[in-house]
Amino acid sequence: MPSIKAAILGFGTVGEGVYRILQEKREEIKKSTGFTVDVVSILVKDKAKNRMPVTGAKFTDDIQDVLNNPEIDIVFEAIVGEEPAYTYLSDAIEKGCHIITANKMMFAKHGPALLKHAEFRNVKVGFEATTAGGVPIIRTVTNLLAGDRVKRIQGILNGTSNFILTKMREEGSSFELALKDAQQNGYAEADPTDDVNGTDAFRKLMILSSLAFGQQPDWEDVPVVGIDHLESNDLLDASKDDLRYRHVADIWKDEKGKLQATVGPVLIGDSHPLFGIDGVDNAIIVNTEYLGSLTLIGPGAGMYPTGSAMVADLLHIIRQHELKPVMVTN
Ligand code: NAP
Ligand code: HSE
Repeated sequence: MPSIKAAILGFGTVGEGVYRILQEKREEIKKSTGFTVDVVSILVKDKAKNRMPVTGAKFTDDIQDVLNNPEIDIVFEAIVGEEPAYTYLSDAIEKGCHIITANKMMFAKHGPALLKHAEFRNVKVGFEATTAGGVPIIRTVTNLLAGDRVKRIQGILNGTSNFILTKMREEGSSFELALKDAQQNGYAEADPTDDVNGTDAFRKLMILSSLAFGQQPDWEDVPVVGIDHLESNDLLDASKDDLRYRHVADIWKDEKGKLQATVGPVLIGDSHPLFGIDGVDNAIIVNTEYLGSLTLIGPGAGMYPTGSAMVADLLHIIRQHELKPVMVTN
């Protein structure tokens, strides 16, 4: 049975999720693709940390152990921040590895360059997990673009914010307590500032913008507001009027063809498709020229939803690319 060798960069909530799913679904993957997938290397920051036991993979804190291993066909990236993630993935592409990332902070800025580089090296880039966790929005928009044109994308793109707003409204929980709960569930970033100030949703919107419109608006032109100024009373008052706060990221082309975008909390009534989206769920409404309106809903964060999006990328790459080692030698 041919084997695909994989490395996982980062073994926190998401990296561990990828590993668990690859183990749990090993036989299914073998049956459906004809390949076994073996994780041989796991990059972490602190090798001394206590972790779940793994079989067949070596923990390392040195990226060269991954990049200099000619066996590795595919690199999953689930570390934090723009760098060193961008450099690691560029180097992996240069070595001929396919890459799959969950790192939206890095991908919002460097995604277009990575995609170009990968095309040049004839390898694939999976980035489903960068946007809306387990919701297959990247694949859906990609498919739609084959015969249609996206006019507008509007959605709840941060699971932590939606989880907090729901807890505050339904349970009268304080912002701080609801955030703590989101952190304990593995939804929030290690530093949750960008979750609650709107920046995380903004970055995901920029990734969607590149995909759907082939460009991003000037980042400075996009007003970005978070939910961190809202209090339980604001939400309860809105409920009395049958309204709800939702944190909405929105992008569209105006009549002059210029991209316009906004990110922030909006008050909506029960006729709005985002009214009933609660907890960690994300929801994205895509408006297109021919299809009209399509809404995708599902878990926007967490170990298994995000891990499953990355494994789905892997299966897609295997089927699309008949994955073979394509190492480039210096
Ligand atoms: P996390 O739990 O904080 O885990 C981060 C992992 O990356 C840790 O294993 C850490 O090593 C490792 N790491 C960090 N910096 C590193 C470096 N410079 N070199 C090597 N290893 C490094 O984070 P997470 O929640 O799994 O998120 C990972 C990525 O996925 C982030 O970019 C995040 O934005 C994105 N994401 C997260 C979710 C989610 O639901 N959590 C969903 C979608 C996307 P140590 O273990 O040694 O500290
Ligand atoms: N912290 C992010 C969120 C993880 O809550 O949406 C998924 O990208």
